[in-house]
Amino acid sequence: MQLLDGKLAAQAIKEDLHQKTSTLLQQGKRAPHLAAILVGTDGASETYVASKVKTCAEIGFESTLKRFPSTITEEELLQEIDELNNNDAVDGILVQLPLPKHISDDKVINKINPAKDVDGFHPVSVGNMVSGTPTFIPATPYGILLLLKQYNVETSGKHAVVIGRSHIVGTPMSILLSRKSNPGNCTVTICHSATTNLKEICLQGDIIVAALGQPEFLTADMVKDGAVIIDVGITRVADASKKSGFALKGDVKFDEVSVKSSYITPVPGGVGPMTIAGLLMNTYNAYMNKQ
Ligand code: GUN
Repeated sequence: MQLLDGKLAAQAIKEDLHQKTSTLLQQGKRAPHLAAILVGTDGASETYVASKVKTCAEIGFESTLKRFPSTITEEELLQEIDELNNNDAVDGILVQLPLPKHISDDKVINKINPAKDVDGFHPVSVGNMVSGTPTFIPATPYGILLLLKQYNVETSGKHAVVIGRSHIVGTPMSILLSRKSNPGNCTVTICHSATTNLKEICLQGDIIVAALGQPEFLTADMVKDGAVIIDVGITRVADASKKSGFALKGDVKFDEVSVKSSYITPVPGGVGPMTIAGLLMNTYNAYMNKQ
């Protein structure tokens, strides 16, 4: 079993972007600039956004964090996005999801200028991705592709089983793995809550992407020997032995599944850091597209 070390792979990408940013600054240009919007005080969202902003600083990117109370109206939020759309010094905009119930995710995502849509959630980005036109790819699937590439994991002709059909991970992942590219060129099965024979399908998977958000869901009896396991889950589970009061659990029962796998991502330190790397790559590309 080989660990797919997302922390290590992300470090290499961050060093490359840091180098590129230093060169831009030496040329008298400005640095790429990511603007993040955080609404409310959800603990996990706070952690993710803080991590994104911190990583921008590490590699010399500029970042702006705009925080709003969960009482902000949809209209006010759309107005804030418009201001960022019109700000030439901002290259990438991300609105951390989930949003409060009274705000429509779709309206907010549709408001972002597709040229700044570094999350790759805008319908224009999704359409381009599906038709194979170069575009912003959602950060988590993008990070997973970068990780598979970094470790030279063979994907062509393999059966990839994606568990979960979210717009953020499962759906784009299934499309990207089925594309004629490397990584990609897989036969893909996408499973979800209505899948009746999930275990049988998982047992056929050469590659399994677990992205359903249920801690330790994928167990050893669902996995064939030598499978590649990508664990997207990261759920806070109460744990009195931890100072924070919680432990982070993936969607995969790591101890037993890792023994059967050829490659596996740890949680934390697998897909998480690669998601940030994917976002930073998108932000750099958004900047370069304007040059
Ligand atoms: N919430 C969970 N994952 C993501 C992500 O990749 N981007 C945004 N904006 N919100 C998220």
